[in-house]
Amino acid sequence: MRSSTTFLAAASLLSLAAASPLERRYYDCTAPQVWHTCWDGWQGCCSVTPCKGPAEGVKSYCPDTEQPPSGTPGNPTPPSTPPTACSPESTPSPTPTSLEPDVEWVGQTGCKEDNSNCHWAPRFFIIKTDNETYTTYNQTFQFHVRKDAGPEGGRHDSIALFTDIPDTVTKCRIAWYKPAQGIFYGTYSDGAMNMSTLDLGDRSFEEAVGGEVSYASTKELIAGESSHGVLDLGNWGRTLGGKALDNGHDAFDCAGSELAVHFALNAPGAEGSVTVDQVSKLGTNNNGFVQRAGWYLQYV
Ligand SMILES: *[C@@H]1O[C@H](CO)[C@@H](O)[C@H](O)[C@H]1NC(C)=O
Ligand SMILES: *[C@@H]1O[C@H](CO)[C@@H](O)[C@H](O)[C@H]1NC(C)=O
Ligand SMILES: *[C@@H]1O[C@H](CO)[C@@H](O)[C@H](O)[C@H]1NC(C)=O
Repeated sequence: MRSSTTFLAAASLLSLAAASPLERRYYDCTAPQVWHTCWDGWQGCCSVTPCKGPAEGVKSYCPDTEQPPSGTPGNPTPPSTPPTACSPESTPSPTPTSLEPDVEWVGQTGCKEDNSNCHWAPRFFIIKTDNETYTTYNQTFQFHVRKDAGPEGGRHDSIALFTDIPDTVTKCRIAWYKPAQGIFYGTYSDGAMNMSTLDLGDRSFEEAVGGEVSYASTKELIAGESSHGVLDLGNWGRTLGGKALDNGHDAFDCAGSELAVHFALNAPGAEGSVTVDQVSKLGTNNNGFVQRAGWYLQYV
């Protein structure tokens, strides 16, 4: 059933022990909050990315529920603490490792810094097959798909909407990039997903779904979608460095200012989920290292 070859082979060679169930953690959070795990050990629910990069020298925190750690802009160190307390002699805490922003994506993806040949900023909509009217939040910072156990298990699919595609662009391909560190990358069980584009005709996505994104409003579009194969974001990648994946350079027609890509976890009978951060530029994910991460559209 699963037609991905290279990526599944990589998955079975390199797969680690299954991650602890993500779904639990995902559902412990109330939308728009989602679960985050940061490189410095911070874990929890937050509506914005709580992770701080090593270069920022600030511990991760979620502004929904926590005060910024003292010393952060907006929450300066209380005046009662003499400034000399920060002198190197009296500060035994380790100096934050200074990390240069990740540049592996440039070499691996062939994408330019000025975004002239790639699009890294899709808007994600989650739809549920088992609740056709479920209307999800509309967000840019994280990708999530899931499949419940059993052949009839419900799915959470993700639709990535790429907008403002230049009108000179006629062919695209879908690919994915994971930086070596600094993003939340969580997979549980099966991580292979179908990627398909929806035919919007001459309409915008919003027009095509009648203003409201749900499984009910996208069902027909999904029935007529064009498949662009499978990409597996299973456990293989946790310990590797930066890594770009594409689906055999499958390029397709993408003329038009909007492109909607439907991602569905292809896990017949099995349970699985994938949750990964999406970053379109340095700083958008509050991280001093990651410049680009996640799904991108490459103009070819
Ligand atoms: C489906 O989702 C909507 C929220 O979008 C909720 O109001 C409704 O109760 C859900 N229906 C079921 C059967 O869970
Ligand atoms: C998604 O959010 C953006 C920004 O808030 C908004 O402009 C857009 O209309 C929303 N799209 C849908 C389909 O809700
Ligand atoms: C994924 O694609 C395969 C091959 O086209 C198809 O048999 C399967 O039903 C698809 N699964 C989902 C969840 O869309």
